[in-house]
Amino acid sequence: MKKIIVGFVAILFVVAAFAATNANAEVKYIGAKKCKACHMKQYKSWKKTTMAGSFDNLKAGVKAAEKTKAGLDANKDYTHDADCLKCHTTGYGLPGGFTSIEETPKLAGVQCEGCHGPGSEYNKVMKKNKKAWKKDGYTSEELKAIGLIIPSEDEAGCMACHGGDSPFTEKVDAKHKWDFKERLENTHKHFPLKYKKGH
Ligand code: HEC
Ligand code: HEC
Ligand code: HEC
Ligand code: HEC
Repeated sequence: MKKIIVGFVAILFVVAAFAATNANAEVKYIGAKKCKACHMKQYKSWKKTTMAGSFDNLKAGVKAAEKTKAGLDANKDYTHDADCLKCHTTGYGLPGGFTSIEETPKLAGVQCEGCHGPGSEYNKVMKKNKKAWKKDGYTSEELKAIGLIIPSEDEAGCMACHGGDSPFTEKVDAKHKWDFKERLENTHKHFPLKYKKGH
């Protein structure tokens, strides 16, 4: 009986922590380094994708042939161009998000939060309740309640960057074709979850 009560109290604690942080003010972007602390495997795999170094593509002379083909100026420096930054950085113009390469170099490129949502609240709760997750497990619903986005449920989020506004669409080159299922697999390698309830 004592054990059951202790377990129940632990669950209540987690639920209360959700409710408390959820009601807080604005959720901010915090950068991939914070996620790396707990998700090293995903971080390393993501680092190898073109998304991680995507900011460099805005520099003059980089990917010259591709830019010319898309009707852009290959010799122009686009690193301060708002029209490009909104898709080649993380959280551009949003709370805590990228402002400029001088001010926010840690948010250059398409990072974790580009797909998983701004992580300030999630990060806070996960840090505080790590032991509780490990002991009692969690559900995706609980993580979503503190702001985490599960990308396979949010194709519209991808299309904000991969959609019609991008200079690099299927019309420019077939390699830019959008296939949601295939893309989901190539974001970073996926590793089994340990603490998810029912896993
Ligand atoms: C203090 C540690 C910690 C930090 C920091 C952290 N996470 Fe997590 N996260 C976890 C734990 C623990 C799990 C559960 C893992 C498991 O079940 O094996 C998890 C699970 C996840 C999942 C899977 C959710 C599901 O149910 O499918 C995603 C996606 C995720 N984290 C993204 C992020 C992102 C993005 C960041 C940075 C903004 C981040 N995490 C920062 C601890 C953390
Ligand atoms: C903030 C804008 C943005 C969002 C949101 C976004 N992407 Fe992208 N994605 C890019 C950019 C920019 C590139 C190309 C990187 C480059 O070459 O500069 C890219 C490239 C990719 C690649 C190729 C990676 C590689 O190394 O071959 C995959 C796969 C991908 N995105 C999947 C997704 C999926 C799935 C989603 C939604 C869950 C998504 N993206 C959301 C901007 C975004
Ligand atoms: C609406 C979002 C969006 C905007 C705006 C945008 N890009 Fe991109 N860009 C992307 C995506 C998405 C990709 C990757 C396409 C793919 O999946 O193959 C990409 C890829 C690229 C590439 C790599 C192409 C290749 O073939 O490897 C370069 C270079 C690039 N963008 C430069 C720019 C520049 C310069 C600007 C501003 C003039 C810009 N982009 C504006 C979304 C965008
Ligand atoms: C281009 C989109 C995209 C980016 C960027 C991205 N992820 Fe993911 N992530 C996914 C997708 C897709 C899944 C699979 C889960 C789903 O959507 O159902 C996933 C799943 C996860 C999971 C669950 C376990 C696993 O391996 O599948 C964790 C943890 C995670 N991501 C952390 C991160 C971290 C940390 C970063 C940054 C270093 C990151 N993600 C960057 C799209 C992305």
